[in-house]
Amino acid sequence: MGAAAPVKPTPILHVTGARPNFPKAAPVIAALTALDLAQTLVHTGQHYDDRMSEVFFRELGLPTPDINLGVGSGSHAVQTAAIMVGLEELMMAAPPELVVVYGDVNSTVAAALVAAKLHIPVAHVEAGLRSFDMTMPEEVNRRLTDQLSDLLLVTSRDAIGHLEREGIQSDRIHFVGNPMIDTLLAHLDSFDVDKARRDHQLTDQFVVATLHRPGNVDDEASAQSLVRVLHEIADRLEVVFPLHPRGRARLEAAGLSQHSRIRVVDPLGYTEFISLVRGSAAVVTDSGGVQEETTVLGVPCLTLRPNTERPVTITDGTNQLVTVDSVVAAVDAVLARQDHDQRVPELWDGSAGVRIAAVINNFLQQRRTGLPSMPVEG
Ligand code: UD1
Ligand code: UDP
Repeated sequence: MGAAAPVKPTPILHVTGARPNFPKAAPVIAALTALDLAQTLVHTGQHYDDRMSEVFFRELGLPTPDINLGVGSGSHAVQTAAIMVGLEELMMAAPPELVVVYGDVNSTVAAALVAAKLHIPVAHVEAGLRSFDMTMPEEVNRRLTDQLSDLLLVTSRDAIGHLEREGIQSDRIHFVGNPMIDTLLAHLDSFDVDKARRDHQLTDQFVVATLHRPGNVDDEASAQSLVRVLHEIADRLEVVFPLHPRGRARLEAAGLSQHSRIRVVDPLGYTEFISLVRGSAAVVTDSGGVQEETTVLGVPCLTLRPNTERPVTITDGTNQLVTVDSVVAAVDAVLARQDHDQRVPELWDGSAGVRIAAVINNFLQQRRTGLPSMPVEG
């Protein structure tokens, strides 16, 4: 991904930046392209390693970003401010009619804030999720982004209530389903469990583990507890752990790799990662997106967090919240069970991108013509 290219004005500006943004943006961009709407794709550069970024562009058919701001890592203020400065320059030089932001990362809130101050409308994909835990940076980002957004595109019904209680007008909220699940369903044929097993020398049942939340990996004592229970799980079955760069140093210092049945690997590309998840007996995670993907794949998900902003994955899916004290027993219970429920949340059907594109198209038409908008979602 190269440096900043000359800016060309287009009606829609997508802002992405971190790993979970890419599988959410891909179906939205594809559906808007099918409507023949011109778009500009910005990558803020929040994530920049090949395995955290470019691999998703290669695998998910995302267009090469028109602009990469290359902001890189930093404290919250440093990173958010750098994204804002870069985006303000872009949006002032070529103001779009709408800025589309995804999820809850720093790139999301930075883009929404810049657009709102320039009086450019914002569409928030995955609006209204709430963990009610303001110690999580994502919760801060979500709440602020939603307040700044004109279109609130929600993945589950509970999000509608959260937004309405925060004073968001109902006619701005659109229940469209989950675009991350569009990406999952569109790639089902490419997930090759046997190959993933061979590539990772997995001979029997295995667990996939992913952990990167600050509350889990930023603190030495907490990293040590995690490693202790992961070793206990590895006493039972093999564990593959694609290690997010955030926790790498602390988890490794706590001895993560020092168990013969734990395979610690670099972050994986999407296809390889989901292939492993699909073939696993259970996933132990603190990822947001993985809670959703396991639900649709019917793979038991043990979420090592005190809360989740995605309760629909518990009520209508395979997710359960666990602690370091309960996770090993939860793995045992999952292994003892023969059958697993497979329910899929409402509208997680592979068509969220199309619904989002229809809402956006309608919004743009309405602003251009001044005519009232048409209802587009079911
Ligand atoms: C960010 C999001 C989080 C999301 C996660 C997805 C925020 C506040 N957090 O967390 O919601 O779940 O992405 O993965 O936006 N690093 C690299 N290479 C990279 C990117 C990061 O080595 O390509 C390292 C750097 O040391 C950096 C650290 O990871 O300081 C954290 O990166 P950052 O983007 O600040 O937050 P994440 O923990 O990745
Ligand atoms: N993912 C991946 N490789 C990995 C770990 C995760 O492709 O090694 C994918 C995962 O399937 C999901 C997305 O990355 O599509 C979730 O990103 P992450 O867990 O980093 O962020 P969160 O969802 O927690 O914000």
